[in-house]
Amino acid sequence: MVDIENELKHYKVHFQNKVVFCNCDDPYESNFFKYFAANFNHLGLKKLIATCYDPSPIAGKQLDIFGEGILEEAEKKAYKIEITEVTDVNNDGAINLSDVEYLIKNDKNVLSKLVGNGDYKSKECEKLLEESDIVVTNPPFSQLNDYILFLYKHKKKFIVMCNHNIVHYTEIFPLIKDNEMWLGYNSNKTVRFAMPDYYEKWDEIIDGVKYGKVPSIGWITNLDIQKRHEELILYKSFNEEEYPKYDNLDAIDVEKVSDIPCDYYGIMGVPDTLLDQYNPKQFEILGADGIPKYANELKIGRIGEDWMKRYRENGGTGHYTANMRSIVLTKNGVPKKPYSRIFIRRKQHTPVEYLQQEIPVSMAAEDGKR
Ligand SMILES: C[S@@+](CC[C@H](N)C(=O)[O-])C[C@H]1O[C@@H](n2cnc3c(N)ncnc32)[C@H](O)[C@@H]1O
Repeated sequence: MVDIENELKHYKVHFQNKVVFCNCDDPYESNFFKYFAANFNHLGLKKLIATCYDPSPIAGKQLDIFGEGILEEAEKKAYKIEITEVTDVNNDGAINLSDVEYLIKNDKNVLSKLVGNGDYKSKECEKLLEESDIVVTNPPFSQLNDYILFLYKHKKKFIVMCNHNIVHYTEIFPLIKDNEMWLGYNSNKTVRFAMPDYYEKWDEIIDGVKYGKVPSIGWITNLDIQKRHEELILYKSFNEEEYPKYDNLDAIDVEKVSDIPCDYYGIMGVPDTLLDQYNPKQFEILGADGIPKYANELKIGRIGEDWMKRYRENGGTGHYTANMRSIVLTKNGVPKKPYSRIFIRRKQHTPVEYLQQEIPVSMAAEDGKR
């Protein structure tokens, strides 16, 4: 929940009067559903929809919360929950999750069985997707590529928890490059996930719940966020010793994002962590190492036998071959293989142009409050 809160607190202006859909979320195990149910009025939501996927191990086990009989048909089946208002329905003097539970138990329009298994691609879930404005969830990471492309195809706004590796996916990177989607506020972090009790491997148990630690977790979104309008402060100057050119591409290598020189306007290879601080007004993304399309576009040459020989003689390891078209360099006489590089170029603009760049009014207002 803390990870969800830390990300979603930045998007409040986007949720006002919107239909939010959590489409990989069993309401009784998903903290995404709980976050939106608990903050329904605070965020000014128009509607909250959550659909549960049939094979979810938890589905149908929560009869104590639903109350006897409510789930007779839906038990162990996929179902959906649709909430359009949260008031003090249980008359306990407060508006909170207990009202949502009361609604689920007592209002037959809130909980209903799905015809199919709740697959996000199924016709009925696709219909709910059409009806929604913003999709927020953490989908099965094994399906991340197809999941994001599915939302993109449907022209939906989304905030999706994902594995940072997604930025290197052949079909996703071009969309990031073309500013169709970008990283959220939190990226590339190790996050604790609650795991079903029957899992035999876990990292820690807290209050009887098993947790696994998963590295490289971040968020991807296509909602305009303030972070994307912030400029990276560059302070280093270019010099040939510190920023060697690649042996097979006319571009310099920059080892750390904070080292990007302020006075170089050619192509630079930088670690993909730049995407966490990327402002499209400051930099243009040209490609990524490891994706063949960009090896062609940027004309990255073969690694070559000579470099491979020198690399192995220097104790270099890894599955590289002379025919690969992936960037390599030689620094102070030592062959090096840079890792996870994306290729960028500075955009030239004056400080006045930067100050004049447009920030959506609602976002500027919200930022003033922070
Ligand atoms: C990483 S878990 C996240 C669950 C939930 N968002 C949460 O935070 O608790 C992924 C969820 O996606 C569900 N799922 C797997 N395949 C799915 C599919 N094709 N359509 C919809 N949901 C799916 C799984 O059952 C699981 O509950």
